[in-house]
Amino acid sequence: MSRTEAAKRIDQLTKELSEHNYKYYVLAQPSISDFDFDQKLAELAELEHQYPDLLDPDSPTQKVGGDITKQFKTVRHRWPMLSLSNTYSAEELKDFDERVRKAIGDHFEYVCELKFDGLSMSLTYENGLLVQAVTRGDGTQGDEVTTNVRTIKSIPNKLRKDGYPPSFDIRGEVFMHKAAFERLNNERIENDEIPYANPRNFAAGTIKLQDSKEVAKRPLDCFLYFLYCDGRDKLFKTHWESLEAVKSWGFPVCEHTKLCQNLDEVYDFIDYWENERHHLSYEIDGIVLKVNSYAQQDELGFTAKSPRWAIAYKYKAQEVETILQSVSYQIGRTGAITPVANLMPVQLSGTTVKRATLHNANEMKRLDLHEMDTVVVEKGGEIIPKITAVNLDKRINDTKPFVYPTHCPACGTALIRRDGEAVHYCPNEEGCEPQIIGRIQHFASRKALDIEGIGDETIVLLFKNQLLHNVVDLYTLHEYRNKLLTLERFGEKSVQNMLEGIENSKQKPFEKVLFGLGIRYVGETVAKRLCQHFKNIDKLSQATAEEMALVDEIGERIAQSVYEYFTNPIHIHYIEQLKQYGLQFEIKEIEAKLISSKLEGQTFVISGVFADMSREELTQLIVSNGGKMLSGISGKLNYLLAGDNMGPSKLAKAQKLGIPIISEKDLLQMIG
Ligand code: IVH
Repeated sequence: MSRTEAAKRIDQLTKELSEHNYKYYVLAQPSISDFDFDQKLAELAELEHQYPDLLDPDSPTQKVGGDITKQFKTVRHRWPMLSLSNTYSAEELKDFDERVRKAIGDHFEYVCELKFDGLSMSLTYENGLLVQAVTRGDGTQGDEVTTNVRTIKSIPNKLRKDGYPPSFDIRGEVFMHKAAFERLNNERIENDEIPYANPRNFAAGTIKLQDSKEVAKRPLDCFLYFLYCDGRDKLFKTHWESLEAVKSWGFPVCEHTKLCQNLDEVYDFIDYWENERHHLSYEIDGIVLKVNSYAQQDELGFTAKSPRWAIAYKYKAQEVETILQSVSYQIGRTGAITPVANLMPVQLSGTTVKRATLHNANEMKRLDLHEMDTVVVEKGGEIIPKITAVNLDKRINDTKPFVYPTHCPACGTALIRRDGEAVHYCPNEEGCEPQIIGRIQHFASRKALDIEGIGDETIVLLFKNQLLHNVVDLYTLHEYRNKLLTLERFGEKSVQNMLEGIENSKQKPFEKVLFGLGIRYVGETVAKRLCQHFKNIDKLSQATAEEMALVDEIGERIAQSVYEYFTNPIHIHYIEQLKQYGLQFEIKEIEAKLISSKLEGQTFVISGVFADMSREELTQLIVSNGGKMLSGISGKLNYLLAGDNMGPSKLAKAQKLGIPIISEKDLLQMIG
């Protein structure tokens, strides 16, 4: 293809893909399959690769991130980012309404909007192109996070239609949907990474990541709710009109915005969303009331901190009283103790709450919980309910206080608490049952060695029957086939399945094994980084903490933890044994050589026989282009690579889940 032809095709693909992005992310009405979209995107990426000078920073390919920001620049806002005055009461809203009437008379309208619980962002567009994104900061100046914001799919890098001012600022809220938050936060918990308390914190933490590729992996969204530009009042008479216009330029504007003629209509809006908000896919913490007319907004003006023409009405966190029945202490695989309150089941924000986290000993001390106390349970921004207070009026006389244990409730070992940490640990790593079981479960889990045929309950059963004492024992289980067959729930087929699963785990890559060892603070990403850097376990285990801390994304705390792990002779002994059983403790050549990242983030399953290549060759091709192999068909799968004679059940399952089925040829096209 000539350069001119390429430029033309790039232009066409850019337009098409931007339109599809808009339909998918802003209108939520896709008109093309994911597969077709990905193919077009791959074609565009390839052309941009061939002609790097034709790469437009606003190209849809740039939504995957790539640039790293070492330090965010501080930028002054052209129009300060003010906050809103807040109220929790209907009376104060009436006072606000009266103040407004006094100033501008009785003829005006309100725009009622949802108050999104995220972080506010100011976007600057010049000639229809996103040129800058800045956080609120102190309201006068904030951090420039343009590279990261460019990865947010619903934010247009280039505007769709004409009619926008040559230069303007638009303000809105960046947030994470509840479902994405729960999924990603659960992954963090599984990976022993510190979870975020709520979607807002997760979104805020994400926008400040240095690597925009990581940002692109965490789905953020945005609603825009305010426009600033020179001569704005000549373009639009009202805020409502401006929202309609920005919508037509391609910005995501929340559909639940309503024009209200009086306070009663506002109250109805508030009442409606008080309950309905729990059915939204994102969190809101109230509603925002804005006087619609720009002329009237000008008349009302500002106080030092906030506009007089707007106010936020915040919903109280939902709370309910119930009886505390007992406190149990969970022991995690790293020995960390988490106190949990067992409650009399109660309805709260549309779900039944039976348990609440008590976090740690400090929190228990603060609450001074007694047996059968009536406690106040709250579900606010936090997904996990928490106990905020005890209703002392309802305390029963002479009930005993709950005292935080000094010894492990499972094994009796004295608990320890490290300097500066709130959490207690049981140090009896080798003798404390829940820790041992938890470690084996982690080792076999989907994200680690992904051993098929052995679930959490099976591991408990095998442990109780003395067939498993540690992860190494998994590899001797085949010697006990007859004993296994005598166990409850085990038949010929399930034993065979489990033993095959265990055998297959020997082929799992080094990074999965390292993650599976369950070293404190070593999540999936950290494990990957360590493997890429040190290449094999010998180099890693001999490295100093300082050497480890030099690796990208490895902080001192992680480095120290990994270093300490390898000073324990028991750990070294286990690793030696696992090595002898044939587990992978070094990067294989195929993983080390990454030819391209065209398939990054994409998952594949190969099934059937192929005309031109063996399955191994296909696997190598996928992996070396950044793709990932999955062991089975699930909702997580992106593509099923199908050859001849593929099993009908696999095919049916993939079709049912709507997973694109591709051929060898399609794959080759994807990687160009
Ligand atoms: S308008 C001058 N509208 O709430 C206008 N803010 O407490 C200022 N927020 O900093 C903002 N949803 O982060 C506006 N529909 C909405 C909003 C909203 C959420 C946030 C925003 C602001 C804070 C003020």
